[in-house]
Amino acid sequence: MAKSTTERRKSSHLRICSTKNVEFAHKTTGFEDVDFIHRALPELGVDKIDITCSAFGKRLSAPFFIESITGGSAEAKRINKSLAAAAEKAGVAMGLGSQRAMIENPSLSDTYCVRDVAPDILLIGNIGIAQLMEYDVRRITDAVDCVGADAIFVHLNALQEAIQPEGNRNFEKCLSYLEKFTSQLSIPVIAKETGAGISRDVAAALSKAGVKGIDVAGAGGTSWGAVELHRNSQGHESFWEWGIPTALSVVEVAGTCKLPIIASGGIRSGCDAAKAIALGADYAGAALPFLKAAEKGEKAVFDELERWKEQLKICMFLTGCENLKSLANSPLIITGRTAELFRLRGISPEGFANRREHSKMIL
Ligand SMILES: Cc1cc2nc3c(=O)[nH]c(=O)nc-3n(C[C@H](O)[C@H](O)[C@H](O)COP(=O)(O)O)c2cc1C
Repeated sequence: MAKSTTERRKSSHLRICSTKNVEFAHKTTGFEDVDFIHRALPELGVDKIDITCSAFGKRLSAPFFIESITGGSAEAKRINKSLAAAAEKAGVAMGLGSQRAMIENPSLSDTYCVRDVAPDILLIGNIGIAQLMEYDVRRITDAVDCVGADAIFVHLNALQEAIQPEGNRNFEKCLSYLEKFTSQLSIPVIAKETGAGISRDVAAALSKAGVKGIDVAGAGGTSWGAVELHRNSQGHESFWEWGIPTALSVVEVAGTCKLPIIASGGIRSGCDAAKAIALGADYAGAALPFLKAAEKGEKAVFDELERWKEQLKICMFLTGCENLKSLANSPLIITGRTAELFRLRGISPEGFANRREHSKMIL
């Protein structure tokens, strides 16, 4: 059967992200402006530090998500299996790529099916908000059931749709479609950006619409402006650098709603994850580094996840935090452009700097 537009687009995204520079060139996540206060006397053992947590009803060995990447082609199938097998072994969560391709062509369903290699992981399905306006809820829930997902990401990709030659440029009433969707699903719906971040106003609207979590997917990592430019969105160069830096997005969302927050967009190490959690996220995730690792195979993905776990634990050791709850309250020094952005949005960097340190050692 001839490949559909969706299948062809998904394959070209994979190829472009694997071979070209698709990250923000100037704008950063902001994590480089965020520093912990080093604790010379940690009063802890690294190996006793607890980084386990729960997410959407499942236990995780670490607060990490492999973000939504792919599905819908033979190459996607191989990548999904590697990611899922590594996630199972490492005890972390995984998102599937947009399931639009399998809804349009059910013969592609098996390229998303990973439960054979990952029976226990927190597995999250994926659909675009534009598809909520297009498909009957039933078609989406069937796709989610078919892969055995525990929750579903609804991705908000207005930037990508606006500059894609074949994109959906009409998001009128998208919030009411989302509200209807959340009210009809029996599994949690998690709203997710794709690299341009979520502001406080959008977080408030999403929370009101009934989502059970928010993945900020902010600016500083993969830029969809860049990906689409490599495809053929000539004339849209200005959008390479578009979006809310991840650090600011995390703080805005955390200050607005009590929902679980996944920090993603440019998270590149366990240290970035530690900073994101100290800023207010509950979990941290990434796409591009795991895609690159998956191309080498399951072991490379697993090794990367284990490296992140070790880095997270060392950050916690060096700040005297024995668990994720105490990391969340760790004082932070925020300087430079990130401090300036915080102040412009009414957020006090001093508030983070003067938190009381959590430690047995405080006299
Ligand atoms: C090749 C590729 C394909 C992606 N496809 C999807 C997708 O189908 N659905 C989605 O919600 N996000 C998708 N994303 C976005 C990621 O989930 C993530 O939000 C974004 O890449 C930012 O994270 P990063 O900087 O760690 O890559 C994709 C990312 C990449 C690199």
